[in-house]
Amino acid sequence: MIITTAELFKAAYGKFAVGAYNINNMEQALGLFQGHITAQAPFIIQISKGARKYAGVKMLEAIIRACDEIYPEAIYAVHLDHGDETTCYECIDSGFYSSVMIDASHESFEQNAAITRRVVERAHAKGLSVEAEMGMLGGVEEHVSVDEKHAMLTDPDEAKAFVDQSGCDSLAVAIGTSHGAYKFSGSQGLHFDRIAEIQKRLPGFPLVMHGSSSVPKAEVEKINSAGGQLDPSARGVNESEFAKAVPLGVTKVNIDTDGRLVWTRVHREYLRDNPKDFDFRKPGAAYIQAYADFIVQKSIALLSAGTLAEVRTAIAASAA
Ligand code: G3H
Ligand code: 13P
Ligand code: ZN
Repeated sequence: MIITTAELFKAAYGKFAVGAYNINNMEQALGLFQGHITAQAPFIIQISKGARKYAGVKMLEAIIRACDEIYPEAIYAVHLDHGDETTCYECIDSGFYSSVMIDASHESFEQNAAITRRVVERAHAKGLSVEAEMGMLGGVEEHVSVDEKHAMLTDPDEAKAFVDQSGCDSLAVAIGTSHGAYKFSGSQGLHFDRIAEIQKRLPGFPLVMHGSSSVPKAEVEKINSAGGQLDPSARGVNESEFAKAVPLGVTKVNIDTDGRLVWTRVHREYLRDNPKDFDFRKPGAAYIQAYADFIVQKSIALLSAGTLAEVRTAIAASAA
């Protein structure tokens, strides 16, 4: 069942974080739904501009609608990830999406707020909510001085002013994470003091953590021993930090790179171990299962595992 992102955030805030995963194809979608049914967790399906181009808008929608019929128990929202203004309007007008992200974080504060405000007006008129991004979502490296480090993180007063000015419903904040497999070079982690300061200015307001893949060392090692050439120093967010971020208002956690690593590991190992095989369904089936298992583990770390029944009850109560 597709629900609004706002409903999902209302049920989750302060209790658990909703995992938001990007999909590009059928195998990812099947693993995603199966894993969340096993974990009994709600979730967010994210569609990037790249995914819309790769699979096609109609194909992605058809895959999700098919999964919805196959897994009627699933509760989830459909979200545009890192949209520009035009793509946001396309998604809002399509009637299929629960929410959109307008990413104008490369613009000045004023421009970002003005663009976000326009998207918010169009989205709210159709019942969708809007995620915006403010601040530099780059990894904060160890060689950077303390003052510089703090300057790269989202400023709490600016975050409050941005939300007031733009009217957005959730905000992607820079709290130490970055996209991709190479986030940290040493022992850095999330900046909990900064998240707490943002929450103080925006109590009850959902914060979004992009770049939240963990890039497990064991996964990188397996990929490399099956022929991959990833930098062995690749590091991500320690999964145990999710639970500490939840009471501070982190309500949506974006994970994509880790899923790509699962795909790479399964396929590299399969082809290494079965050099005479050419049936793509065998590694495909192994990947769907591995991705579903991965989703179960993530849901436990995000504290969303086992919450499906209470989310269903909350939705039914608000509809009554
Ligand atoms: O943050 C971006 C996501 O990892 C999606 O990546 O734009 O290559 O689909 P993509
Ligand atoms: P990762 O690259 O850490 O998986 O982040 C994904 C993301 O933020 C998608 O918007
Ligand atoms: Zn992102």
